[in-house]
Amino acid sequence: MCGIVGYIGKRDVAPLLLEGLARLEYRGYDSAGIVVNSPKAGALKMVKAKGRVRDLEARVPKRFAGTTGIAHTRWATHGAPSDVNSHPHLDPENKVAVVHNGIVDNAAELRAKLEAEGVVFASETDTEVITHLIARSQADTLEEKVREAVKAIDGTYGIAVMHADFTDRIVVARNGSPVILGIGEKEMLVASDVAALIAHTRQVVTLNDGEMATLKADDFRTYTTSGTTTNSTPETVEWEAASYDMGGHDTYMHKEISEQPDAVDRVLRGRIDDRFNTVHLGGLNLDPREARGIRRVKILGCGTSYHAGLIGAGLIEGMARIPADAEPASEFRYRNPVVDPDTLYIAVSQSGETYDVLAAVQELKRKGARVLGVVNVVGSAIAREADGGVYVHAGPEVCVVSTKCFTNTVVAFALLAVHLGRIRDLSVTDGKRIIDGLRKLPAQIQEILDGEEDIKKLAAEFAEAKSMMFIGRVRGYPVALEASLKLKEISYIHAEAYPASELKHGPLALIEPSLPTVAIVPDDDLLEKNRAALEEIKARSGRILAVAHREQEKADHTIVVPKNEDELDPILMGIPLQLLAYHTALAMGRDIDKPRNLAKSVTVE
Ligand code: M6R
Repeated sequence: MCGIVGYIGKRDVAPLLLEGLARLEYRGYDSAGIVVNSPKAGALKMVKAKGRVRDLEARVPKRFAGTTGIAHTRWATHGAPSDVNSHPHLDPENKVAVVHNGIVDNAAELRAKLEAEGVVFASETDTEVITHLIARSQADTLEEKVREAVKAIDGTYGIAVMHADFTDRIVVARNGSPVILGIGEKEMLVASDVAALIAHTRQVVTLNDGEMATLKADDFRTYTTSGTTTNSTPETVEWEAASYDMGGHDTYMHKEISEQPDAVDRVLRGRIDDRFNTVHLGGLNLDPREARGIRRVKILGCGTSYHAGLIGAGLIEGMARIPADAEPASEFRYRNPVVDPDTLYIAVSQSGETYDVLAAVQELKRKGARVLGVVNVVGSAIAREADGGVYVHAGPEVCVVSTKCFTNTVVAFALLAVHLGRIRDLSVTDGKRIIDGLRKLPAQIQEILDGEEDIKKLAAEFAEAKSMMFIGRVRGYPVALEASLKLKEISYIHAEAYPASELKHGPLALIEPSLPTVAIVPDDDLLEKNRAALEEIKARSGRILAVAHREQEKADHTIVVPKNEDELDPILMGIPLQLLAYHTALAMGRDIDKPRNLAKSVTVE
């Protein structure tokens, strides 16, 4: 949610920052802005624009020289998207520039206080408060001015600050919003996401909450907001710069859908132990005795990650025979849940930054619970906050909507379920059966992807629908939920997901020819029950698209997917529906990678 990039060194900074912003645009894209130091010391130069980074780029003058700068792409929270509400925010003398991710909770109170002192605000944003606090500070150093400001604000922030009187440095601070330093040769970068750094350096320092840093061209220093030096040392980022390119696809979503066979191969790699027909997960930090003591599993996530968690709960309960359920982290936090020492809590997040999930983890940890993370971004806030966990190794996911991370998260849950199951009651035979099934997944996913042209034809038909219904039973229900979310996120077609068993308890009233139903119909113990639901819909003249292991007579169309073990079928059945959502949105001319009103990482409440 919002992207920050900054640079100090010898290069012409504006093109470098604009390129960085383009890489971060998936985090927020309603407006953008850039500030550079003026070679004529004493003031900063700024350009801002409502709209996309390309709109900002069009406004940046040809001569916009400077070798230090900060830039931002925004996802509005305080104040509508507009030129003036875009970041950076400057003080009236053009001396202090601030870019900010996060929310200042006491902005209204601070604003009133500053206005009473005669400050005139240019924007409606909470961030401008930080600019004025820094500009009005009487402290001698920029570090001290920033420290005073962050001590005055409540809330979350990742900020980068430039000051015309301190042109040899950028000062940054973090509390709840990622700030990553990129360490180069006689140049330093800062960003809210490695995506903006990786073309320049793979040496990074991720700040902790409560940490600040001073970046100079040939040096960096980290310290806490109380001034204690933290001496952070750089780590090497594993992801390649090329992973952030579109690689010949028209959209990131298409690229990421098609990467799934490789991504699944990666999450499995090095984790299967054929000798004992089990799975080893290095970072779990849970010994067999502790694993046997778990009495419940509670999985927490948001959006797509919550849906992956629902499938994960089914896998764990089925294989490890531990009662397990999933709940949206955003709801869990606010219902004062009973926190049980014998429950294993699992936080799921692609980005590892989602505020609602992070806040739930922090609340759980405060109450003494054991929390594992199932996370894609290595070293992210949730990964670091958790007691241990499983990385899902999907590689960078740039499209705002999640596809390969969903699939890999579910596979990671299957691995965890085998691991816990084999410590408890899963037999050697069943362990082997699931492991063999897991190994088949990459080729089976590829087989589904090879049928893309047929799915594209079906999508042309669905692009005309005003609304769609998705149904599934037990394992199929989370698949329906996720498919319905994917469709609405990128096509803006209204979609509902229901357990097929609930149809006759209400939603059947909606069925008519103009409301197509997508039904998940695996060849498992519930096949006949699912077929009965198709009958009910057909009897009301409903149109049906089935995702099944064989042609379904009652359906108008069937997408046939390869059969795996019953437990692993949901992984495969979700894939054609990603393509269906994709091609439906494409047929409707939607901006697939950047759907309206959404951002990739929701780091605010
Ligand atoms: O990064 P996370 O997995 O924690 O994100 C959670 C949700 O915000 C995310 O899955 C969202 O629902 C996506 N737009 C799904 O496509």
